[in-house]
Amino acid sequence: MAAKSGRHFLQIPGPTNVPDRVLRALSQPTVDHRGPDFQRLGQEVLAGLRWVFRTANPVVMYPGSGTGAWEAALVNTLSPGDRVLMFETGHFATLWKEVALRFGLVVDFIPGDWRSGVDPQALEARLAADTGHEIKAVAVVHNETSTGVASRVPELRRAIDAAGHPALFLVDTVSSLACLDYRHDEWGVDVAVSASQKGLMLPPGLSFNALSPKALAASATARLPRSYWDWQPMLRDNAGGFFTYTPSTNLLYGLREALAMLREQTLEAVFARHARHGAATRAAVAAWGLELVARDPREYSDCVTAVRMPPGHDADALRRLVLERFDMSLGTGLGKLKGQSFRIGHLGDFNDLSLAGTLAGVEMGLGLAGLPFRQGGVAAAMERLVTP
Ligand SMILES: Cc1ncc(COP(=O)(O)O)c(C=O)c1O
Repeated sequence: MAAKSGRHFLQIPGPTNVPDRVLRALSQPTVDHRGPDFQRLGQEVLAGLRWVFRTANPVVMYPGSGTGAWEAALVNTLSPGDRVLMFETGHFATLWKEVALRFGLVVDFIPGDWRSGVDPQALEARLAADTGHEIKAVAVVHNETSTGVASRVPELRRAIDAAGHPALFLVDTVSSLACLDYRHDEWGVDVAVSASQKGLMLPPGLSFNALSPKALAASATARLPRSYWDWQPMLRDNAGGFFTYTPSTNLLYGLREALAMLREQTLEAVFARHARHGAATRAAVAAWGLELVARDPREYSDCVTAVRMPPGHDADALRRLVLERFDMSLGTGLGKLKGQSFRIGHLGDFNDLSLAGTLAGVEMGLGLAGLPFRQGGVAAAMERLVTP
C-alpha cells in the first residue's frame, strides 16, 4: 500500500476516534495509585461516571473490556442454576448468553431475526407466565451494535412492572452510553454494563457496572464464583477514591478529560447530535436505494447504521476496497450477518463533516465496487444535516 497522508477514518462502531484532548491527557506521567493525587482522580471519575449513567448509586469500574463487565453483572447477582431471560437481538446478545451458559445459568433465549429489538409485549408475556418467579434476571442489550437496532429500555421496564415480576433488570449499554439517552435510576435498571471505547471516546480497556440497591442486595446472597469481578471489595476501596487492585491510571486521566468534554457539550446536546447523524446516515442509505438491517423505525440506532448488501455482493470486499482506496475502516458484518452487511459507525467524537466524509467514502466505494445503487446519498445526508 502507498504511504498514507491525512487521518485514518475509524468508522467502525467502536473503538471510536479518540479526541486529541483525550490523547494528550492519556500521556501524563503515571502516579502512585495509593497516593493523594490518585485519590482525587479516582473520586472525580467515579462521580463523573455516576453523572453519565444518571445514577445516585455506585458505579464499579474495571480494567477490562465490555465482556468482563457482562461477566461481572452475572456473577455478582446470580447463583448456579438460576434462570435468566435473554433475547436474540444479534451478535452481542448471543455472546452474553454464552457467558451466562458457561457459568451454569439456565437461559431462556427468545429467538429473534437479528433485525429487531426486544419486544416489550413478548417480555411481559414471558414474565406473566412465570408465576413461580423462577426467572431471576432479564438481560438485554440496549444498542445491538451488530444490527443497528436500539431496544426501548423504558418500555421494557414497564413490561416487567406490568407483569409484577421481581426479576433483576440487566442492560448492556456498551455502545449506547453517552450516545443515546440512558437513565439508570429513572428507568429502574439494576445493573448496567458498559465500556470505554464507544461513546466515552476513550481507547478500549475500561469497563463498568452501574448498580442499583436491589442489585447490591442480590450480591450479598449470589453464589456464582467471583474474585476479580467482585463488587464488594471495590465498593469498599472506591469509597475512599482507591481501587482494590492496580487501576488503569492513564486511562483514568483520559476518562477525566472525556467527562469534562461531555459536561461542556451537555449530555442533551450529545444525544441530539447522535440523533441528527443517525437520521442523516439513514437518509443516505435510502437515497442509495439500499436497505437497513433494522426493520422498525422506532428501533433505529443513532450510533451505528447496519446496511444490507444487495444479494450476491460481499460486504467484506466493499470494506476492503474502502480501506485500501480511502483509508477508512467500516464495521464488518458479525455472526449471522457476516458478508451480508456492513456497518457505519457514527458515534463518539464526531461532527457533520466527519459524517459527510464518511458517507462520501461509502458512496465512492459503492461505485468502485460496481454495486447496484443510486448516487446521491451524500447529498441527501447533507440536506438532512442543514434541515433544522
Ligand atoms: C453492545 C456490546 N456489548 C458488548 C460488547 C463486548 O465488549 P468488548 O468487545 O469490549 O469485550 C460489545 C463490543 O463491541 C458491544 O458492542
